[in-house]
Amino acid sequence: MLGKFITIEGIEGVGKSTNIESIRTFLTQNGIKSIVTREPGGTSLAESIRGLLLKVEDENPVELCELLLIFASRAQHIKKVIEPALKEGIWVLCDRFTDATYAYQGGGRGLRSSIISELESLVQGSLRPDLTIILDLDVRIGLSRARNRGALDRFEKEQLDFFERVRTTYLSIAGNATDRCVVIDADNKREVISKQIHDLLTEKFVK
Ligand code: TMP
Repeated sequence: MLGKFITIEGIEGVGKSTNIESIRTFLTQNGIKSIVTREPGGTSLAESIRGLLLKVEDENPVELCELLLIFASRAQHIKKVIEPALKEGIWVLCDRFTDATYAYQGGGRGLRSSIISELESLVQGSLRPDLTIILDLDVRIGLSRARNRGALDRFEKEQLDFFERVRTTYLSIAGNATDRCVVIDADNKREVISKQIHDLLTEKFVK
C-alpha cells in the first residue's frame, strides 16, 4: 500500500516543527513508518537551493527566479525522497509544500496562481498531499515568536502586510479544498493542538 503524504503549513512561528514531531510519534505508536522532511529542502541539492532562497544578500531574486528555484528544489525532493518513500508504504510528513508557494509567491509576492499551477502540474504530475494541516495564528504573534529565534532570513524580514496576505491565502486555499485541508487554531496550548491533530489522523486514516 502507498504511504500517505501529509503536509504542514502556516506562517512563521505557528509551531510546525513541534507538531510534526508529535505526529511522527503518534504514527510510530500506531505502527506506521514515517519520515519527516521539509521544503524548500529535503535532499542535499535541494537544501543548497534552500540556502540560496533564504540567504540575505545584496541581490534579491526577482519573483520568477524565486518561484523557479522553489520548484527546482521541489522536483529534486519529489523524485529523490517523497515518491520513493510513498512507494515503499512509508508516510511522508513534509514541513511545507506547494500550498506555501501559493501563499508566499502567490499571495505574498503577487504572482498569478495560474503560473504556479502550471509549474505544479509540470513538477508534481498527479502528486498532491493526502492531508494538509494549516496551523493558523495571528500574524503579529507568529512573527514575534519567529523573530525571537535569532537572525532573520530573507522571508522573515518581510513586513506584516506580506504575512497577512500569506495567511489570507492559506485560509482561502483551505476554504476551497475542504476535503484535503484542515485549519487548526495555533493559538492554543501545545497539548490541545496535538490532541486535535491526533484525533484528526485517527478519524481520517488510523480508525
Ligand atoms: P521554514 O523556515 O518555515 O522552513 O520555511 C522557509 C521559508 O520558505 C518560509 O519563510 C516560507 C518560504 N517558502 C516559500 O516562500 N515558498 C515555498 O513554496 C516554500 C516551501 C517555502
